[in-house]
Amino acid sequence: MKMHYNWCQTQRSVLIIALIVIIIIFYIRFEFEINKIQTHNRQLDLLLTQTRFLRTGDDDSDSNLLIESDSQTLQEKTRRPIGGKDTVIIYNRVPKTGSTSFMGIAYDLCATNGFNVLHLNTSKNSHVMSLSDQLRFAANVSQWRSRHPALIHGHIAYIDFDRLGVSDVKPIYINLIRRPLERLVSYYYFLRNGDNFRPYVVRRRQGDKKTFDECVRRDEHDCHPDIMWLQIPFFCGHVFECWLPGNEWALSEAKRNLVDKYLLVGLTEQMSDFIAVLEAALPQFFAGAVQQYRSGQKAHLRKTYNKVKPMAETVAKIQESKVWRMENEFYEFASKQFQFILQRTLNTANGQSVDRGRQWFFEKVRPKR
Ligand SMILES: *[C@@H]1O[C@H](CO)[C@@H](O)[C@H](O)[C@H]1NC(C)=O
Ligand SMILES: *[C@@H]1O[C@H](CO)[C@@H](O)[C@H](O)[C@H]1NC(C)=O
Repeated sequence: MKMHYNWCQTQRSVLIIALIVIIIIFYIRFEFEINKIQTHNRQLDLLLTQTRFLRTGDDDSDSNLLIESDSQTLQEKTRRPIGGKDTVIIYNRVPKTGSTSFMGIAYDLCATNGFNVLHLNTSKNSHVMSLSDQLRFAANVSQWRSRHPALIHGHIAYIDFDRLGVSDVKPIYINLIRRPLERLVSYYYFLRNGDNFRPYVVRRRQGDKKTFDECVRRDEHDCHPDIMWLQIPFFCGHVFECWLPGNEWALSEAKRNLVDKYLLVGLTEQMSDFIAVLEAALPQFFAGAVQQYRSGQKAHLRKTYNKVKPMAETVAKIQESKVWRMENEFYEFASKQFQFILQRTLNTANGQSVDRGRQWFFEKVRPKR
């Protein structure tokens, strides 16, 4: 009886121990699974936030979620916004610099890349805004978050958001400029003949058959060198002196703004390089732009009708003017800066521009983890 009792007790202990072991194994296994599910959840959250940014940027509350994550590979695979989904790019396009062709690319890409394109229409095509309009514009741009990220374009001189006390959105400025005489000649014939972009629009000087050469010979208004005074004031901004043809302060201010306030200023003459640098620098907006530009080049080309190349004597006469010399100096300055950026950003071999990619890393990170 005693023997039997002891045997029974041992058997029960073994059973209990076995049961405990099984429970522990189950518990560990369970914990492991829970952990796995939590990791997956975090990755999903991250992916969702990022998709939301890429799609519309409609959510206003959790813009910083992107920063939190321990899933390295996922972060690296997904495009990261530089300024978050509230990035606003302002392209204050100068008339007749190829801006319509460039914007065609942006319109093609906006749905796929998940940004909004907003065209700014100023009444009477004025290039400067009143002080109150500047404030209203800056307030709208920073508060209209359901339309972020955004690419805003319009024929407006540079507006300094810092001066207006707007701190929640700091727009990224980009622009394109063109050789001043070529821009003027293009504008001259555009006013008379229109272009293939909106051929049905009756232009201001429609029907006038006078060539640019004749206009210059007769010293008429439409080809006066002062009309070239446009790229400098566009970069100089909303200051009285900016709009005085030949003003030296305006030229130096335009140069300063170009390097201080603009992320990138391209040249009409090197449109594909401009697009390639933008794609490398701002892929969340311009991924696929180079491809789009190559395949749709003909469709996007806006061509002024019946443009006549000016004669050498016309060119020589224009180049004597102070305004041409200053506008040209500004163009050359912009060109040097653009080549400087271009060489460091892209490898241009046999006509193809390839992003150099990341050329830096942190070598020593302390304290160790
Ligand atoms: C700007 O708006 C006015 C008034 O609605 C319109 O007549 C004009 O065509 C617009 N300009 C452009 C460039 O779309
Ligand atoms: C900004 O202006 C547009 C019209 O131009 C308007 O529809 C929109 O509601 C405005 N957004 C804000 C936040 O004021």
